Parts: sequence; structure tokens; C-alpha cells
Amino acid sequence: MTREEQLAELHKVIRNCRLCHLYETRKNAVPGEGSVSSRVMFIGEAPGAKEDESGRPFVGRSGELLMSMLEEIGLSRKKVFITSILKSRPPNNQSPTQHEIKACLPYLERQIEIIKPQIIVLLGGVAISSLVGPWKVSEAHGRFYESGGQTYFMTYHPAAALRFPKVNTVMREDFQTLKRELV
Ligand code: URA
Repeated sequence: MTREEQLAELHKVIRNCRLCHLYETRKNAVPGEGSVSSRVMFIGEAPGAKEDESGRPFVGRSGELLMSMLEEIGLSRKKVFITSILKSRPPNNQSPTQHEIKACLPYLERQIEIIKPQIIVLLGGVAISSLVGPWKVSEAHGRFYESGGQTYFMTYHPAAALRFPKVNTVMREDFQTLKRELV
């Protein structure tokens, strides 16, 4: 199987997943999208209402902001791979529980194995604590972290940047740091 086929196969499994109770309330699972040969992978928290409706990651307001930040550093939706820690929407956008994260994480690990990104960008506290440890975003943001042969870059979730103008500014500065690493 080619890597594209492996990813497509995995996404089919994710779309039919019933490993946690979120399958009962979701409309569509959201496996993620982008190129299988992406050098950069962006990981958010969980799908929201728009993502649940469409089955596509980051298509709501957070997504619009993320796309504008990508464009600012010469990236685009097509050039990267975008996904979230949870592949199904928690009702009322509740924070993911440890049980949901544990059930869903093997899907992300398999995506990482297939795509083999040079850098994984962790967007916000849930992505950071699920993959590298319980760091405060305010301390971790703008930093690279190496673990198990994988490079991570930590920054805020775009939803935080939508709420707080200061975070918006800082997050854009973080993206410039990321850009310097990518050249
Ligand atoms: N927020 C996320 O973390 N992921 C999405 O797909 C959309 C919003």
C-alpha cells in the first residue's frame, strides 16, 4: 500500500470509530486533512460545530485565523497536514476528557507514523499536554521540544488568539520562529 492509501484506510476507520461515547453525538468524525508528504503537521484540540457538520478540520473561525497565520509564513492548507487530538466533537465543545484522549491517541500516533512530519506544531494546552507533557502554554509557547526522535513546536490554540488580542500577537511571533526553522 502507498502512504496515501494507508492514510485513506486509517481515515476510513476513524470515520466509523466507536471507541468512545462521542460517536453517539457526532455528525461526522474529523480525521484530518492535507498532504501525506507534509513537513509540518498542526494538531489542535477537537472538532467544533462547523468541523462536525463538514467532517473537515479547522473550517470555523479558529480555522480561518489559523489559515491566515499559515499564509503569513508561506504555508497553506494543502502544504501541511491538519488534525486534532480528538477526531469527534465533544457535545457543547466540552474539554476533552482523559478517557476520550486515551481512546483517540492511537489514531494520531498512526497518522504521525505514516506522514513522518519534520515538525509537529502543538496548538494549545490539550495538544501540548497530550503529546509532550503538562506544560503551561504561556511558558511553552514559541519553543521547540525534542522527544523520541520527534521535533515538536508549541504555541497557542487559535481560539485563544480569537479571544485575546495579546495572544494573537504572540502567536504570530511564534509562527515567525517556526518559519525560521522551516527554511
Ligand atoms: N479546533 C480544533 O482544535 N480543531 C478543529 O478541527 C477545529 C477547531
